[in-house]
Amino acid sequence: MNYLATVRASAERGDTIAAEALAGLGGVLTRQLPKFELEYPCHSAQEERWFLMQASPLADGCVVSHINITARVVAENEQSRLAAELRHAFEDLKALHEALQRTQEQLVQSEKMASIGQLAAGVAHEINNPIGYLNSNLGTLGQYVGDILGVVAAYEAAMPAVADPARREALEQAKRETDFGFLLEDMPKLLAESQEGIQRVRKIVQDLKDFAHAGDNEDWQWVDVRHSLARTLNIVHNELKYKAEVRQAYEEIPEIRCLPGQLNQVFMNLLVNAAQAIDQRGEVGVRAWVEGEEVCVEVTDTGCGMPPEVVRRIFEPFFTTKPAGKGTGLGLSISYGIVKRHGGHIEVDSEVGRGTTFRVVLPVIGPSGAET
Ligand SMILES: Nc1ncnc2c1ncn2[C@@H]1O[C@H](COP(=O)(O)OP(=O)(O)OP(=O)(O)O)[C@@H](O)[C@H]1O
Ligand SMILES: [Mg+2]
Repeated sequence: MNYLATVRASAERGDTIAAEALAGLGGVLTRQLPKFELEYPCHSAQEERWFLMQASPLADGCVVSHINITARVVAENEQSRLAAELRHAFEDLKALHEALQRTQEQLVQSEKMASIGQLAAGVAHEINNPIGYLNSNLGTLGQYVGDILGVVAAYEAAMPAVADPARREALEQAKRETDFGFLLEDMPKLLAESQEGIQRVRKIVQDLKDFAHAGDNEDWQWVDVRHSLARTLNIVHNELKYKAEVRQAYEEIPEIRCLPGQLNQVFMNLLVNAAQAIDQRGEVGVRAWVEGEEVCVEVTDTGCGMPPEVVRRIFEPFFTTKPAGKGTGLGLSISYGIVKRHGGHIEVDSEVGRGTTFRVVLPVIGPSGAET
């Protein structure tokens, strides 16, 4: 009775362990419980202790024992502390590993871009001269051919005036042998095609040069990219209007330090890609907002989207999935270089059949010293 009274008194003072013990004891005494067990802490000022209370029926009362289980509990606590530590260490390691992997990917990428940039600059430089005289010679040749065709027409007109039938026949014979009519027809076509080809090569060389020397002749300026976006949208309006509803949503953003001409090129590439990804008709969304020290520009389309194996390669120069003549595969690699130069980066989200989002993240203050 003394024991019960002590426990009850403790319970009434608000000791929750005593209350629990009391309830258990009551259960065993009334035989509603076959037995009762309770583990509880009972720390003293000097040490931490734990006890196991056990109550089992005996005759018309019950036997209660309190066993000191401190050693076991301490061991268990230590174990779970170690487990938690291990788990933490593992999580840290995992995060570190992921970060390393990302860094490595970025390193590989930027290494690749740097060496390709050098290569591109060299190739562009070498090709530029021959392309220049090919282009101008083709132009001159076109004029000459035009002139010669005029002279030939005059000869043709004079043919009936050749009195000697044998001579006339010889001329006719020569014309037949060379398929003269076809030559006359085909010559200007060949020239025009060649000139078009040269223009394409020039465009590629120009792109390559831009890629290698993005922003060489431009000054860094403070610019509101919303204006750049609006201007670029004007330029690509033709490409977009048959394909997409363009939705613009701009938040208040600060001016950023950038090479505006180069950024326009990035936006143009993204917008043209978005339009080209749309088969019949869709939507292109252009958004801009500020996030801390960075301005984000997003171009979203409801186009064909890309599988992961394409996404992995889109920044590679000359990687394209478009038919010859439509895509050179330089748009995104040039854009990548430009954004990198600004100390920013490009993020991509894409899902086949649903569409693609390109996000350009640019530091407001521009690149740090080392990068300019
Ligand atoms: N918005 C998009 N939706 C789907 N695929 C895209 C999108 N943007 C880029 N791509 C894919 O990435 C490839 C590379 O794009 P990139 O702009 O570098 O070259 P391109 O558009 O093919 O040619 P270029 O831009 O030189 O005319 C594209 O061929 C296409 O497969
Ligand atoms: Mg493109």
